[in-house]
Amino acid sequence: MAALSLKQKVRLLTGADLWTLHAEPAVGLRRIVTSDGPAGVRGGAWDERDPAANVPCPTALAASWDEPLAVEIGQLLAEEARRKGVDVVLAPMLNLQRSPYGGRHFECFSEDPLLAGRIGAAFVRGVQAGGVAATAKHFIANDSERERMTVDVHVGERALRELYLAPFETVVREGGVWSAMASYNRVNGCPMTESPLLRGVLRGALGFDGVVMSDWFAARSTVASARSALDLVMPGPDGPWGGALLAAVRRGAVDEAMIDEKVLALLRLASRVGALDGRERATPRPRKPADTAAVLRRAAAAGFVLVRNDGVLPLDRAVIGRLAVIGPNAATPRTLGGGSATVFPPYTVTPLAGLRAALGDEVTVDHCTGARAGERLPVAGPGWLRRPSGEAGVEVRFVAVDGSLLGTENRATAALHLSRSLRHNGALAWLEIHTVIRASASGPYVIGASGIGRYRLSIDGRVAFDTRLTPAPGADLVESLVVPPQAVHTISLAAAQSIDVTLAHEVGSAAAEMGDVDLSIALNLLPPQASGDAEIDRAVALADAADVVVVVVGTSEEVESEGFDRDSLALPGRQDELMSRVAAANCRTIAIVNTGAPVLLPWADDVAAILLTWFPGQEFGHALADVLLGLAEPGGRLPMTWPSQETGLPSTRPVNGTLSYGEGLGVGYRSPSCEAAFAFGHGLGFSRWEYLAMAAPGEVPAGAPAEVAVEIRNTGSRRSREVVQVYASRPDSALDRPARWLAGFAPVSADPGETVCARVPLAARVFEHWDAERGRWAVEAGQFHLGAGRSCVSLYLTAEVTVRDAVSATRPSAASGRPGAACCE
Ligand code: BGC
Repeated sequence: MAALSLKQKVRLLTGADLWTLHAEPAVGLRRIVTSDGPAGVRGGAWDERDPAANVPCPTALAASWDEPLAVEIGQLLAEEARRKGVDVVLAPMLNLQRSPYGGRHFECFSEDPLLAGRIGAAFVRGVQAGGVAATAKHFIANDSERERMTVDVHVGERALRELYLAPFETVVREGGVWSAMASYNRVNGCPMTESPLLRGVLRGALGFDGVVMSDWFAARSTVASARSALDLVMPGPDGPWGGALLAAVRRGAVDEAMIDEKVLALLRLASRVGALDGRERATPRPRKPADTAAVLRRAAAAGFVLVRNDGVLPLDRAVIGRLAVIGPNAATPRTLGGGSATVFPPYTVTPLAGLRAALGDEVTVDHCTGARAGERLPVAGPGWLRRPSGEAGVEVRFVAVDGSLLGTENRATAALHLSRSLRHNGALAWLEIHTVIRASASGPYVIGASGIGRYRLSIDGRVAFDTRLTPAPGADLVESLVVPPQAVHTISLAAAQSIDVTLAHEVGSAAAEMGDVDLSIALNLLPPQASGDAEIDRAVALADAADVVVVVVGTSEEVESEGFDRDSLALPGRQDELMSRVAAANCRTIAIVNTGAPVLLPWADDVAAILLTWFPGQEFGHALADVLLGLAEPGGRLPMTWPSQETGLPSTRPVNGTLSYGEGLGVGYRSPSCEAAFAFGHGLGFSRWEYLAMAAPGEVPAGAPAEVAVEIRNTGSRRSREVVQVYASRPDSALDRPARWLAGFAPVSADPGETVCARVPLAARVFEHWDAERGRWAVEAGQFHLGAGRSCVSLYLTAEVTVRDAVSATRPSAASGRPGAACCE
């Protein structure tokens, strides 16, 4: 620090560009590179030419209730980060699934703070064991997307401490996370990049010693944010600090000691990730692609939640001669959610491909989509694209102001990302996508453009449209990247007719709306479609002829993404109708739900089985085949309440800029009026379990951890894993309390007939509440009720625990460290 001038120090506190931090040779500091997380490590480019292993989304990971698996996925991401030269992964997201409408629901772990914290801490340990920093984001109360840049979240102090801060506490204390991100929103009036919660709670109470960075473009003030415990403004090179901060320090508005504190945090991070001369970091061994695939296949299956099974699963191969695989997501699945979490997987195994590969030639597999999952015009699929030279793909031409060609690129996709580094090349005036499309059948072809700015579509040299696309009023920046507006043109083609298509974008024409941010540009194509009725009729006919039907329904990017919330929990399009009609045609219909968040399932009682897969990563199809055919057990348990209706759910719509968390402590299953189609914690394996006995300590001293022992027997016919869950409640409390809360969990596995003991650790916090008046954690001495079972409503064993206040308490025995019980010995 002594070697750095004030100017050098301040320079370090704003990013060098979109993803990297400044180097400082004077102190042997190389540049530090950040990248999103958490579905994979995207790296510097937003491009299919720089693929990344696509892991199951965080909800899927939390659904496994498997901490060692979260460590393993973290390790894999660290290897990916190292491979791509990334030092800081911008994950995990620790915000809670407060409402199923939240657009980034798929990117959160759970509605429960204990589960989110434990899976999050394990993930962080895995990432950081590889010498790569994880980032606890977004601090705090950034639990939905509407007006996220400005919304003022009004949340009571108890809910803030007991729910929203709790996962951050676990990830700081037990995960030792090295980096954190301050969110866009305000909390109780104060923008989070200026909030006293950064110093008072994150640094102070939780003891976080890493770097606090702003979410991208979240820092909007100079002095107020610099005086808070924010260390780093992202992205750069511009922003509210830089010269303005230097001046503020010089005139005494910001103390130089505060600058030193920030630089020190940055150097500590640099030291941890090996970015300072002479500091080594762990070097994970890169694994072979086949090993990565095996982990991702296992991880996907571990997160699948089987919520209903009339006995059809696992499928008996011997009875399947003909399988119908139906649904929009069967051949076009979603393996990851939209927004900054986007990565470009090297490949995707679709449900259709996975089942075909597993079943081989002896089984006839029929397929049709049956219904569409979205209304938007899709990106022109790779199968339609031929470069003018004849090879597959598109040719991208970079054209100068004077019309001369600056360069070309051959690309496999018609969805491009125009990075600002390209736009900063002053000579570039137009970016053109050239391709030849050959009609497979006669009929109307809808060709279009997606993006912001000016787009000109030409077909065989004639201009079809030349138009400006502008974002919807009030649209978030990310919304403009994920689901930009579209322009369309319909043309009638004869079978085998070929057309030359050129989509040109005027570079810089989106500057007014997008500023200096990158841009998404796509050429769209929808070939002639059968009518909706005809598609459903076709699906019903295939179902009727099949021995078993697998229907893969889901959402699309236009419904579930960062940047906006959902308006409805219904499956988009005519998917509900499709499922009902298919189920009526075949009683062995298995519903596969490929969404990141809950959707309403009005046909739930009509199908033989329902498997929730979330966004499961690139190995989706293989994992699905493993589970349907019984090679792997569906390992998941619901990490959130799956609601049965929309009435009564917390809204994410701010009113006059304010979003009130009126439900207080009653989030999800904690609410006494929670109406669930499937309860928090629910999920079926392929075996059965008997809950035999539970032993809990009769007394626990205030502030001490405890342990509950639960004895269970596998009464089924195959080896299986059970997630034993313990919930606490306090029926006669003098305080406002949730109806129940998850106190601990322990997964166990057993062979058929085997009895095993699940030892469930209960942290001291389980019996504590936040005393807002005194500003500290407190215990309401007396009797707490514990229930053990397989979901928050299927509790088979109970016990009472008396928590003694600190004075009258007996200390826990030194041998165990926590008062426990011995029913399993
Ligand atoms: C998101 C962050 C993300 C950042 C960088 C923001 O819009 O909220 O989660 O890490 O962009 O992509």
